[in-house]
Amino acid sequence: TEQKATNVTWHEQRVSDKERCELNGHKGVMLWFTGLSGAGKSTVANTVDHLLHSKGNHSYVLDGDNIRMGLNKNLGFSAEDRAENIRRIGEVGKLFVGAGVITSTAFISPYREDRDKVRELMGEGEFIEVYVNASLATCEERDPKGLYKKARAGEIKNFTGIDDPYEAPENAELVLDSDSKGIDELAEEVVAYLESKGYLK
Ligand code: PPS
Repeated sequence: TEQKATNVTWHEQRVSDKERCELNGHKGVMLWFTGLSGAGKSTVANTVDHLLHSKGNHSYVLDGDNIRMGLNKNLGFSAEDRAENIRRIGEVGKLFVGAGVITSTAFISPYREDRDKVRELMGEGEFIEVYVNASLATCEERDPKGLYKKARAGEIKNFTGIDDPYEAPENAELVLDSDSKGIDELAEEVVAYLESKGYLK
């Protein structure tokens, strides 16, 4: 979507990223969780958030259903609306990262192009794509909200994995095996990654 407003200029902020980082003890970074509905994105992201918080890091989760009930309540699930959903979350996430927060986002984000645009929006080392990899069979068996059942019955159209695409990441920084590992183990993998790369306090 193109810029509509004219006569707007970007304002540099008086407090620098470096100064915010010094106060926090760590930088802001975006953890972009992607995967099928029921893969565990939101649960893993929330567990990571809890672990980070208890270690004294400033973190936050932007979560699918919550954002779709507020900021993005005018969007549905067409490819166009999903792209706009992801674009807005990317922009909001960027603001959180700018504020020095370790920001997890938990959205299906099925299109590679939409995710890559967010990656491009972010600075070097500020975007960590986390593929929560669970097979469709696993997700369908879990079916925590009963949505796969409805999609199979034709009551929900364009449901990701059933009659709508999911383009798996090709170069994710992290791939989590959600078919065979539990939430706590997966969350620990994410935290270990952040620790090993020096992202944490
Ligand atoms: S997207 O594709 O990134 O814009 O989707 P997202 O904002 O993450 O929203 C996914 C959640 O919305 C519910 N839902 C659907 N998902 C996929 N396809 C269709 N058609 C659909 N309709 C409703 C579903 O509960 C998803 O929740 P999660 O948390 O992923 O299970």
